[in-house]
Amino acid sequence: MTILDLIDIKKRGEELSGQQISYIVSGFVSGAISDYQMSAFLMAVCLKGMSSRETAELTGAMLRSGDSIDLSRFGSLSVDKHSTGGVGDKTTLIVAPIVSSLGGIVAKMSGRGLGHTGGTVDKLESIKGYKTTLSPEEFYAQVERTGIAVIGQTGNLVPADKKIYALRDATSTVESIPLIASSIMSKKLAAGAMNIVLDVKTGSGAFMKTLEESEALAREMVSIGKAYGRNMAALITDMNAPLGNAVGNSLEVIEAAEVLRGEKAGDLRDICTELSAQMLVLCFGWDEEYAKKRINDEIDSKRAFKQMKRWIAAQGGNEAWLENTALFPKAPITAEFKAEKSGYISCINAEKVGLASFVLGAGREKKDDIIDLSAGIVLRHKTGDYVEKGSTLAVMHTSCDTRLKRAEEYLASAFQIGEAKPQKCELIIKTIR
Ligand code: URA
Repeated sequence: MTILDLIDIKKRGEELSGQQISYIVSGFVSGAISDYQMSAFLMAVCLKGMSSRETAELTGAMLRSGDSIDLSRFGSLSVDKHSTGGVGDKTTLIVAPIVSSLGGIVAKMSGRGLGHTGGTVDKLESIKGYKTTLSPEEFYAQVERTGIAVIGQTGNLVPADKKIYALRDATSTVESIPLIASSIMSKKLAAGAMNIVLDVKTGSGAFMKTLEESEALAREMVSIGKAYGRNMAALITDMNAPLGNAVGNSLEVIEAAEVLRGEKAGDLRDICTELSAQMLVLCFGWDEEYAKKRINDEIDSKRAFKQMKRWIAAQGGNEAWLENTALFPKAPITAEFKAEKSGYISCINAEKVGLASFVLGAGREKKDDIIDLSAGIVLRHKTGDYVEKGSTLAVMHTSCDTRLKRAEEYLASAFQIGEAKPQKCELIIKTIR
């Protein structure tokens, strides 16, 4: 059979065998299958879908295209989490120290961000001295010593995904559940953890806008992980409003430190408690309530914060910045965004706040753009708060005052103020195992 026959099978909506899928992936990586043939195949997958078996086979073929991290020396204790991304999502910075403080092994690779704000690695780079690259020997030694390391994606991990994703981006074939699920899960499986918790966001600030799509993606990813012998759980969580108050790289690190010092309650601490609990349930078989009690003790006793400082220091970062967050460089310009009328905040559109933060300099449009690590937004109020006309709703941080006007326009469309107190939205919508 040729690649044309295989494209034709998918074009008719029929199933491909594992061998045929491997042939397509390895042929594309080696260059034997051209970009235009792969584009036609990806479009056929977008339009006709894939069965769960095919999606798992595609994940495996991508996984085999490169190296994997070997965490077998940590037995059943290695645990990872992945978020499909959202505005103000700094959960890794909080969850990783909590879980490792309680004995889980968090040896994690995280990405840089494209779009609204940076990824975890960009956020960590806002801490002076933090090394996002470690040699394999340094990485394993740190994990053995401290139970935690978070580095950028390195080496030859899933090269098939890099090549396929670039093509999807250029051919309008990103939005396909089998393609997204195989892309994410091939990288998670290559990262080596035995236990994986997924945070699949749903809503205006999320990749998946509807609950149905988010649930379908979560189910597919859980099923792939299980097919490859990993313990899996997925939370579907709300991303209609930004998570926490800070959006922007150093601003988010500061907020993460506040949560770990036990100074901050609310949606961010709640979601981190849920995610950490799921990770600990998978690692240790604890029941959820017991895991949450242990997590709250770990935060309130400041042991989790101590573990954050230990982690940051082990990776070369200046832990004093976490103790005294005033040491983080400040954006030279700040401006307040004020309420135009009195009333209850009925909505803070996450996507628009993300765009406001992006225009202030906190995100990147292209891979090589340089992020302004101190730029972003701090929300002074959250959905459901009553505000008086003229009170400050958010503070914008930037190094360039010409950016303020556009950011203000986005914020003006993000905030909705009404007379009635809005109903509280569920933050954790569903758990899938
Ligand atoms: N994130 C990924 O890693 N892959 C996708 O396909 C979409 C989001």
